[in-house]
Amino acid sequence: MRVLIVGGAGYIGSHVCKALAARGDEPIVFDNLSRGHEHAVRWGPLFKGDIQNRADLDAAFVQYQPEAVMHFAANIEVGEGQREPLAFWENNVAGVVTLLGAMKQAGCHALVFSSTCATYGTPQSLPLTEDEPQTPINVYGRTKLAVEQLLADVASAEDLRYAALRYFNASGASPDGDIGEEHDPETHLIPNALKAAAGLGGPMKLFGTDYDTADGTCERDFIHVMDLAAAHLAALDRLTAGAPSFQCNVGTGTGYSVKAVLDMVEAITGRPVPHEVHGRRAGDPPRLYADVTRSRELLDFQPQYSDLKTIIRDAWNFHRKVWGLVEAEAS
Ligand SMILES: NC(=O)c1ccc[n+]([C@@H]2O[C@H](COP(=O)([O-])OP(=O)(O)OC[C@H]3O[C@@H](n4cnc5c(N)ncnc54)[C@H](O)[C@@H]3O)[C@@H](O)[C@H]2O)c1
Repeated sequence: MRVLIVGGAGYIGSHVCKALAARGDEPIVFDNLSRGHEHAVRWGPLFKGDIQNRADLDAAFVQYQPEAVMHFAANIEVGEGQREPLAFWENNVAGVVTLLGAMKQAGCHALVFSSTCATYGTPQSLPLTEDEPQTPINVYGRTKLAVEQLLADVASAEDLRYAALRYFNASGASPDGDIGEEHDPETHLIPNALKAAAGLGGPMKLFGTDYDTADGTCERDFIHVMDLAAAHLAALDRLTAGAPSFQCNVGTGTGYSVKAVLDMVEAITGRPVPHEVHGRRAGDPPRLYADVTRSRELLDFQPQYSDLKTIIRDAWNFHRKVWGLVEAEAS
């Protein structure tokens, strides 16, 4: 199947392209390379274009005639969203309005959308089920919720079927180390802990050690990007087999604390993780982890790579190459 991977030069999209190609599908990356990397586009063509530009999208649909779309492109850094809400609403929401218009014109009716557990805000109960009220507490989460609502409206009136996958914390890298997480700025815990362990960029910041959790630090549900990619393929298959639209968590159901992550980084790298303890960060819930019942039922989803050791081993394997540590160790 030919699939347009919007935002496919980024972290998660590139892993999905690799997984699609591995089973014989044809990923076509549509990306403006504002945050992604041309070197991560290896499993099909790159169409350089912007989702805010309808002509770019129309040209890509005419050239490649995709049968489905996976949409990863967005502004993702939570703090940036608070500072630049207009840019977030334009790219994350208006961009999807434009994309849906282009899909309609092209006769393309299946969409897998990157949503997030940030649409739930501070959870009232755990594990988080899909029925938890969606009350996001930041601009990023509100734009993602707005797209879920937009998709529901369009799907109820038009010939569109979609899957909104609410990811928890994407992490890890391709086990062969050819692609991985390369955000700039990087705000995610694991790459920043690895960076600190590698002695690059100074100590990392640890926010809050007085939460009501086993070791006082926040707990999060880390899902390996390979497992996330598998969930996308299953969602695509479900939609293209004719299933109705659905929303679904993609997590493991297990929370690991920030402290557990740092301990595992030290164990895998054999290096200490220099860190500074700061106070709690506004809006960080103590615990977040998914109820996985629906993903098991709808996607037959069973994570294969998402234990903390594998996640950090694969991320370290990738970053050691990117940061030139492999050559340094060899010489
Ligand atoms: N990384 C996570 O832990 C996580 C968790 C939940 C949800 N998500 C969602 O998953 C998606 C992918 O995340 P990621 O970590 O791979 O991000 P990323 O920044 O690595 O990838 C996003 C890609 O979209 C492209 N892009 C952005 N705006 C564009 C535009 N206007 N036109 C064309 N291309 C554009 C960027 O160049 C980049 O290649 C995002 O929508 C994000 O909100 C990520």
